[in-house]
Amino acid sequence: MNAGIIGLGTYSPEKVLTNEDLEKMVDTSDEWIRTRTGIEERRIAGDDQNTSHLAFEAAKEAIKDAGITADQIGLILVATVTPDYTFPSVSTMLQDQLGATNAAAMDVSAACAGFMYGLVTAKQFVESDTYSHVLVVGVEKLSKITNWEDRNTAVLFGDGAGAAVVSKVSEGRGILSFELGAAGSGGKHLLQNGPYLEMNGREVFKFAVRQMGESAVNVIEKAGLSKEDIDMLIPHQANIRIMDASRERLGLPEEKMSKTIHKYGNTSSASIPLSLKEEVVNGKVKDDDILVMVGFGGGLTWGAITLKW
Ligand code: ACO
Repeated sequence: MNAGIIGLGTYSPEKVLTNEDLEKMVDTSDEWIRTRTGIEERRIAGDDQNTSHLAFEAAKEAIKDAGITADQIGLILVATVTPDYTFPSVSTMLQDQLGATNAAAMDVSAACAGFMYGLVTAKQFVESDTYSHVLVVGVEKLSKITNWEDRNTAVLFGDGAGAAVVSKVSEGRGILSFELGAAGSGGKHLLQNGPYLEMNGREVFKFAVRQMGESAVNVIEKAGLSKEDIDMLIPHQANIRIMDASRERLGLPEEKMSKTIHKYGNTSSASIPLSLKEEVVNGKVKDDDILVMVGFGGGLTWGAITLKW
């Protein structure tokens, strides 16, 4: 039996930062941000909310949704590039806060592809019968590494968290195929340099358009499916133009692509679980639907999965 997702949880901070707010902070415009990125607003965590706090809120909800208790979790994987500390890891802090007394814990550093790396790692441990339940969290407080005076990056990012409980699911469902990859030679295009995130937007854009489309096609083939079988594409929410390029590569209509970027901006490793949960709650992802999730990010890294819900 495959590993699949049996519970989901999300958390978005209350504070909303709109494009109009950003117009007062840097030389930009609502029109530029909307048309070049698709972003209208993003959420920003309060000073008293660190990454572990966001992760905890999402994780609690995912565990409840899965109908398990925290002590049943064998492993906690937290995908983040904005941990509270280098160590202890966010995953160990979460283990303590949740009372997940039987869980091992480690953080995964693969930037915006982190949730894909986490899900695929969880799959290995679940399908090898090592652990019954693995908690995977994608969480970022990107606002703390954003240079609020740099218009090239300040308009793009937001804070948030998404969590999934990964366990065995009924025959034929769950994660059907995956692809993970890295291109370390491109690491210089997207990095944290000193306190701030720095990015060569055009280079990242080119890489993302090529890689997202290619990986999505690869995992569909690996699962023995065709593009026509796909019910929903859930891409990393980095830029609507990058997302649309992947959608067009798969020949999917707009309604078959999850879009939450307008509300949350780019929340890095949290963006795919935030979108997935929203589509499930809205009833757009239903039992037996075939989903393609695909992410890319700093490293550079990428990851894609096909999953039967
Ligand atoms: N407001 C107004 N003008 C701006 C802004 C802004 N916020 N930002 C840049 N500009 C200007 C530039 O200075 C440039 O002006 P110039 O022509 O006078 O030099 C012009 O707009 C066009 O700049 P480009 O960089 O060519 O704009 P582009 O269409 O490429 O869009 C963007 C920029 C949105 C950053 C795009 O390149 C992109 O989305 N790249 C990928 C970003 C991404 O996905 N990052 C992932 C990070 S995930 C992670 O790991 C945390």
